[in-house]
Amino acid sequence: MTKEETYQQLLPQIKALVAGEQDIIANMANVGAALHEAFDFWWTGFYRVEGDVLVLGPFQGPIACTRIPYGRGVCGTAWAQGQTVIVPNVHEFAGHIACSSASNSEIVVPIHRDGEVIAVLDIDSTAFNTFDSIDRHYLEQIAATLVKA
Ligand code: SME
Repeated sequence: MTKEETYQQLLPQIKALVAGEQDIIANMANVGAALHEAFDFWWTGFYRVEGDVLVLGPFQGPIACTRIPYGRGVCGTAWAQGQTVIVPNVHEFAGHIACSSASNSEIVVPIHRDGEVIAVLDIDSTAFNTFDSIDRHYLEQIAATLVKA
């Protein structure tokens, strides 16, 4: 199966998974688990905006930094820009925060509610160049399932 086919199977499953639950933390936990199980990611999880920092939320994988200031690292940059950031080689990203030395590429997708970033989805890979526009396309839709009307 291609990764696009995997995402196409996963998206309706994730929509169904979150449909009956209003609690965003519970939904982040299951969405992160579903993604992490479907792919060979190193770390899959969420940081939630709390004032001027991102605070670690539900995740799958090794322990991680608990707080990331606005504009710092890949996560803080995606928050500040309000846009998905794809990093093919984290060692070349100025200000990258290395929670794990095994991570080599990363994607961070901001989650918006009423025009504000309320959280980010962060995925790390041990391979270089893991993430591209296909990941962006589907992960943005998956991230959006966490925000209920
Ligand atoms: N590398 C991230 C920090 C979070 S860990 O990857 C889980 C960053 O630079 O924001």
